Amino acid sequence: MKTILDFHEKKQKKQKISMITCYDYSFARIVAASDIDCILVGDSLAMTMHGHKTTLNASVNMMALHTQAVVRGAGDKFVVGDLPFMSYRKGLTANMTYVEKIMKAGAHAVKLEGASGNIELVRHMVDSGVPVMGHLGLTPQSVNQLGGFKVQGRDEKAQKKIMEQALQLQDAGAFSVVLECVPSKLAKEITQALEIPTIGIGGGPDCDGQVLVLQDMLGMNEGFKPKFLKTYFNGFETLKNVFNQYHNEVVEQEFPTEKESYS
Ligand code: KIV
Repeated sequence: MKTILDFHEKKQKKQKISMITCYDYSFARIVAASDIDCILVGDSLAMTMHGHKTTLNASVNMMALHTQAVVRGAGDKFVVGDLPFMSYRKGLTANMTYVEKIMKAGAHAVKLEGASGNIELVRHMVDSGVPVMGHLGLTPQSVNQLGGFKVQGRDEKAQKKIMEQALQLQDAGAFSVVLECVPSKLAKEITQALEIPTIGIGGGPDCDGQVLVLQDMLGMNEGFKPKFLKTYFNGFETLKNVFNQYHNEVVEQEFPTEKESYS
């Protein structure tokens, strides 16, 4: 997928959208060579790449640096860059300065969390030529307000609110919306109500697309096994064994040999 028009087309044709997070050049090259539709440079990089406990530590500079690296490897994949915590709650002019930084880093669109208080900004971004992806349900930047990384939209009032927010984002011009950790029935209803595609992560099988954190789906985040996650590789164990093999070959003087040496 190369533009937001492809997102609309996929929704219309009922074709699912695959998205993966990516934070560096090496992995971006592999994703670029794969069939995956699009890339999210998520603020989850604060956790996966920088070891923080939440995404709150992601900064605009971090996001821009990682976005640049990803874009260099991403070929013609569509790249969405996250607007980090607080960077879009500082007043329109300051917000737009940060949006500009992410777009000039090479992103084709930005993503922001929540709808309350963001609708005017979404409209302004869209009117300024910046495609916007929404993010509702479990919004990790609000983890302290939510009381933890918990499934959202459990009761009727919360469900109604998430539905309304999705419609507001669509109305403001967002081209798609991530639904994170919401009951699949709600995700299905929102997906049916919207003309723009929904991208689920813990949103069940009826969203228009799916996103996973690259390190999580590769099994590199040892011990992290939320219900919504499917791991496609035992990355932690497999890579640890490779590192051990290398270590053993060095200490046993099996590597390097003449074969890997210059005459
Ligand atoms: O930052 C991120 O990785 C995300 C996904 C979980 C959707 O926002």
